[in-house]
Amino acid sequence: MATIRLTEVHKAYGDHPPVIRSVNLEIAQHEFCVFLGPSGCGKSTLLRMIAGLEDLTAGELHIGGRLVNDVPAAERGVAMVFQSYALFPHMTVFDNMAFGLKLAKQPKDVIERKVREAARILQLESLLERHPKALSGGQRQRVAIGRAIVREPGVFLFDEPLSNLDAALRGQTRVEIARLHQRFANASVVYVTHDQVEAMTLADRIVLLHAGADADRFGSIAQTGAPLELYHHPKSRFVAGFIGSPRMNFIDVTVESIEPGRVTVALAADGAAHGEKLVAHVDGERLQRGQRVTLGVRPEHLRLDGDEQSIQCATVLSERLGEHSYIHADYAGGTLIAKAPGDTPLGAGERIRVHVPSAACHLFDDQGLALRRCAFEAERATA
Ligand SMILES: Nc1ncnc2c1ncn2[C@@H]1O[C@H](COP(=O)(O)OP(=O)(O)OP(=O)(O)O)[C@@H](O)[C@H]1O
Ligand SMILES: [Mg+2]
Repeated sequence: MATIRLTEVHKAYGDHPPVIRSVNLEIAQHEFCVFLGPSGCGKSTLLRMIAGLEDLTAGELHIGGRLVNDVPAAERGVAMVFQSYALFPHMTVFDNMAFGLKLAKQPKDVIERKVREAARILQLESLLERHPKALSGGQRQRVAIGRAIVREPGVFLFDEPLSNLDAALRGQTRVEIARLHQRFANASVVYVTHDQVEAMTLADRIVLLHAGADADRFGSIAQTGAPLELYHHPKSRFVAGFIGSPRMNFIDVTVESIEPGRVTVALAADGAAHGEKLVAHVDGERLQRGQRVTLGVRPEHLRLDGDEQSIQCATVLSERLGEHSYIHADYAGGTLIAKAPGDTPLGAGERIRVHVPSAACHLFDDQGLALRRCAFEAERATA
């Protein structure tokens, strides 16, 4: 059993404000859990506490049902893979992978079998006699993963394992890690990254940590859920802005009217001059007329064939990526980004109306908290 349970976990370094606050979390056996968040939000600290490389300031940590707060790292049944690989430069690939097993005084034939098996899985068989300096970054990272695999841990801990690799290798190694997770039926994985694409593609569940200006929330969990749950139902503006690329468009609006399951808003500030009104399919019960709120809509949900329910814009830039283009367009309150087909013939300075589908709208109150989206599930079911 390798469930991990964190109960009211806090961490502070010396007299500094806490870097982790009130984290409550249960990671199931075989779950692939990703800690996601901007730089400095405490992801590595949380992972290192699970590994036994940092003490908890307060709270309890259980692994496999056992309280491990005071259990040394080597006895927790976890194996960690670092961003920096941390290989021994004077040892061959074989010896690097065998090191932990030798330390644990495993018989020679067992070590030989386990290292060869890991090398086969990771396609390192022809490199076993080389030293790390004669390997590429991707090969070094595979050796570091191999060193973790041979120990057959209940929990794999990864701290940004791909960030030193180039884009192509990052994609390839990401797939290898996903396949390894499928292969090791009982092991749980906790994986730290600041890259939301890695988190979306690898995770069974994402734990998104707060950071930024809001000092009271720093180091606490902003939202936990399956990748698509966070994508479709972000609880706050922070989550909505962090998940998705390019990031969600945020538009300042004022509440005009509230009906069951729909809220009508008007573009705030100068936008009001156009009289542009948008209907969002959200539950507006806790809103009031005249209240300033934020409307959020993702670039991939905007359409350039607007008429009703649209915003007048002037194009400023078209980023062509081949299959699709990102159209940047100014409106009275700022700039929108819309995803369009790759062959969209739009240059700069063209006047367009951008359609904002009601079912794709998110609304956030002045605290940044999301209102419940009503039509979304129903529309998706009938789509
Ligand atoms: N030994 C330490 N003493 C004091 N503060 C520390 C120590 N280690 C980390 N911190 C602080 O704790 C906070 C969280 O650090 P952590 O390394 O967990 O962030 P992270 O989310 O992993 O960031 P990154 O994405 O940059 O790796 C940071 O503000 C950092 O400055
Ligand atoms: Mg880190």
